Amino acid sequence: MRMYDIIKKKRDGEELSKEEINFFIRGVTDGSIPDYQISALCMAIYFKGMTVRETCDLTYAVRDSGEKLDSSQIQGIRVDKHSTGGVGDKTSLVVAPIVASLGVKVAKMSGRGLGHTGGTVDKLEAIKGFQTTLSDEEFVSQVNSIGLAIVGQSKQFAPADKKLYALRDVTATVDSMPLIAASIMGKKLAADDDCIVLDVKTGSGSFMKTVERSKELARLMVDIGKNAGKKMTALITNMDRPLGYAIGNSLEVIEAVETLMGRGPEDFTEVSLTLAGHMLSLAGMGTVEECIQKAKDSISDGSALRKLIETVRAQGGDETLIEHPETFEKAKYSHSVLAQRSGYIASADTESYGIASLLLGAGRNTAEDEIDYKAGILLKKKTGDYVQKGEEIAVLLADDESLFQAAEETLLAATEISIERPVEEPLIYGIVK
Ligand code: URA
Repeated sequence: MRMYDIIKKKRDGEELSKEEINFFIRGVTDGSIPDYQISALCMAIYFKGMTVRETCDLTYAVRDSGEKLDSSQIQGIRVDKHSTGGVGDKTSLVVAPIVASLGVKVAKMSGRGLGHTGGTVDKLEAIKGFQTTLSDEEFVSQVNSIGLAIVGQSKQFAPADKKLYALRDVTATVDSMPLIAASIMGKKLAADDDCIVLDVKTGSGSFMKTVERSKELARLMVDIGKNAGKKMTALITNMDRPLGYAIGNSLEVIEAVETLMGRGPEDFTEVSLTLAGHMLSLAGMGTVEECIQKAKDSISDGSALRKLIETVRAQGGDETLIEHPETFEKAKYSHSVLAQRSGYIASADTESYGIASLLLGAGRNTAEDEIDYKAGILLKKKTGDYVQKGEEIAVLLADDESLFQAAEETLLAATEISIERPVEEPLIYGIVK
């Protein structure tokens, strides 16, 4: 078999066989296929797509490209949630402790920030001392003892996805439906949880810009998971504006902790409770409505917050930061972004908000970049809010004042102010089962 023929076949819009897909993923994993041929096939897939059968085969090949978690050692039902990536999306930090506090195991493998989107592992590392690498034994033992562990994906785990993702990120081939589905579901299936809830983001801050495409992606991933014997649900949630008011790593941890203290932003709280409700329901804890109520109770009686503190302690983090989120170190400088005219915030290009946060140092331009955990944006106004000319719409935070200008320009260019009040968009567009 030759990689050249596989690229040509897909370039010409033909269907690849299982053997060809396995050959490709084996070559990605063992390094025998050069980056330019991997990238060329990703681009051909981007343009020509894949059938459901090809996407399933690609997913299973990614799943089988490395080690799998031996989940038989974890007692009880394990449930996971995965977001397709957004801006200000700190839901895992709230949802995982809620679910674990109610007795359902969460063995979570999370990612780092990608492009304009943030990642749970980076956010957790904003907590001084927090270890996002555990051995398999430590991971399993922590899940068994306290019900929750959150780690980064190890190198041995779905290694083909690591390689593929790095190349897709720099060759403009991230937003391809079969490639996203195989990437996410390949990793989820290798983690081998019993139940998986997917948070498929839709809108300007996500990889899928329309509700239709997001629903299609959700359907595809749910079907792949079910085919592999998993209980699956996907929620389609709004990413046409950032979730909550904080964008940036420690800022988002603070907002997540405040949400677990019962004083989080409305939109973020609603999405978190709904996701937690579906996770608990899939795990057999009752109807979705009953489970959403249980999730609310776990916030009001403090048990979800205690579970996060327990997890931070178990993974070496400074738990006093969670108990007193106001003690997180602050960025040296802040800068107010002011409205250029009066009117309603009609729209906010959320991807650009993510980029503005990246420009302040909160994300990476290359895999080697260091993150400034304190940097980011605190929004004061969001889509639908009325602003007076000169009123603060956001505060930028960074350790280097010279970063403010580009971030401010990006934010202002992304914020449309109009005299017309915009139509309110739903927070949750639909559920795919
Ligand atoms: N998240 C992933 O893990 N993979 C993708 O391809 C996109 C988002």
